[in-house]
Amino acid sequence: AHKVIFDTDPGVDDAMALLFLHRHPAIELLGITTVHGNADIDTTTRNACYLAERFAIEAPVARGAREPLAMAKSASPAMVHGDDGLGNVGPSFAPSRTPDPRPAYRWIIDTVRAHPGEVTLVAVGPLTNLALALKEDPAIAELVKAVVIMGGAFGVGGQGGNVTPAAEANIHGDPLAADLVFTAPWPVTAVGLDVTHRVLMSNADFARLRDQGGEDGAFMWQISRHYVDFYSAREAIDGCYVHDSSAVAYVIDPSLFEVRRGPMRAVTTGIAMGQTLQRPDDRDFPPGDWDGLPSQGVCVGVDAERLLTHFMETF
Ligand code: BDR
Ligand code: CA
Repeated sequence: AHKVIFDTDPGVDDAMALLFLHRHPAIELLGITTVHGNADIDTTTRNACYLAERFAIEAPVARGAREPLAMAKSASPAMVHGDDGLGNVGPSFAPSRTPDPRPAYRWIIDTVRAHPGEVTLVAVGPLTNLALALKEDPAIAELVKAVVIMGGAFGVGGQGGNVTPAAEANIHGDPLAADLVFTAPWPVTAVGLDVTHRVLMSNADFARLRDQGGEDGAFMWQISRHYVDFYSAREAIDGCYVHDSSAVAYVIDPSLFEVRRGPMRAVTTGIAMGQTLQRPDDRDFPPGDWDGLPSQGVCVGVDAERLLTHFMETF
């Protein structure tokens, strides 16, 4: 099984991705690290503890960064994920689970060092914790098996951002951290809007989860109502995009995706802050700033139907 650390800002689709990891037999979930993003860090950490307790997920929770590396936090997107980060359904009890005493970046370092070459980091929020871990202990880059992120919008087929015309939310939430993570010597694969905007979960799918997916499915139906309303109104779709679970799906079955290789960067200032760029390896450019950066993977195609079937069947 893939040993996974799940770095997350729960978050409606984060909660769904966590359940996907928890239920899938090919995954061994080592721990959950929380980050600012869809709500403030107190809320995302509370939600992670609640989800772990409610669904009997034994993996520990470690509390992560309150703020991005280099800038004040912008307002949390309550209109997308609700004031409580869980679609305004709220936890049904106050969790008695408490986070590990170590901050998330330290917990990540210790866990990677305990399983050298074996850990996959699945990061589906702003990348602050991963960047802090790299800053504290750069050698972990060589000890991590893979980094799979949900984040970015690489312009495939004209795909733009979702918080600005240029930027996707997770990268916009800490562009400096993203740039550090992209350019470190560990293998990164980005599952960005280029593919997640092609994976649409319909209301009929959610109803099927509710009726046939046990407690998990009923919970996903409940917390997704607010999220689906947001997406239906804004994008005129019946349902919502499957962002964070698409990154999980990549870990389980990379053959669901078509991947383009090349170094990648995030824009850290200015009007395009949070934009993500890749210089494809198979194109010729004059020598320049990109030389010597590690070649990373960007998902540019997805078999959405097979991905959704995989998700639904897990529940
Ligand atoms: C990403 O931003 C958050 O709203 C979601 O949880 C997902 O990780 C999509 O841009
Ligand atoms: Ca997320």
